[in-house]
Amino acid sequence: MNLENHVALVTGAGRGIGKTIALHLAKAGVDIIFTNRNKKFSDQTQAEIEAIGRQCLAFQVDVADADAVNEMVKMALDDFKKIDILVNNAGITQDNLFLRMKQEEWNKVLDVNLSGIFNVTKAVIKGMIRQRYGRIVNITSIVGFTGNPGQVNYSTSKAGISGFTKSLARELANRNITCNSVAPGFIETDMTSEMTKEQISAVLAQIPLGKMGSTDDVANAVSFLVSDQANYITGTTLHVNGGMYC
Ligand code: NAI
Repeated sequence: MNLENHVALVTGAGRGIGKTIALHLAKAGVDIIFTNRNKKFSDQTQAEIEAIGRQCLAFQVDVADADAVNEMVKMALDDFKKIDILVNNAGITQDNLFLRMKQEEWNKVLDVNLSGIFNVTKAVIKGMIRQRYGRIVNITSIVGFTGNPGQVNYSTSKAGISGFTKSLARELANRNITCNSVAPGFIETDMTSEMTKEQISAVLAQIPLGKMGSTDDVANAVSFLVSDQANYITGTTLHVNGGMYC
């Protein structure tokens, strides 16, 4: 896959799925701008991208903070002049049974997972429209389709991403901008490492392919959707879940 001369913004790329997406894109020739909350992880990701030979800018920005996001995109454009690819990956969980769920847990997850996508996309979209080219991929989740006990906030935020993706795809198609989602199932990352052995066995029993996915499995799907091979695909969700939900 050759994406040379492209510039991507990947949110939440300090670790986990976002980091692997950023590294896959860098290997395909893309210069990378990324956000992350933790400086140590940021430095590590930046060093790995630069070792591949790509330019890289890292920002410690909260995607829920619209002013900070606008400032970041302005600074990134000063340096890189354009953003061709946007991967809205940053996401959090704050699980609780609905009866116990606090207003802050609801607000926080919606602010980061859903308003964060609004803020970042809003900040980059004018440039994509001007250049009549853009590839947007939003990372949602299987639970946005199936629901999950204890995750009313998280699954609502992820379900909202489907509406966002489909509507934006329709609005921007005539500007040669595609907008798609990738919905991972259970992927081995820090997010899932907090699961108990019993939880993992219960999950594996529901996965037809019999194993958790890897961050590479998700990054491969993203790389496809931003490549020329996917030029005629917009408004869709690519499920990466080992057959757990189709
Ligand atoms: P992770 O917790 O390992 O990484 C999340 C990244 O987002 C980190 O780099 C973190 O710094 C960043 N982040 C968190 N809050 C942020 C904020 N307010 N502003 C900017 N950046 C922020 O998570 P993981 O597992 O790599 O998940 C990545 C995405 O994939 C998330 O959207 C998650 O919901 C989704 N996902 C993950 C699955 C899994 O099995 N790990 C399954 C389905 C979806």
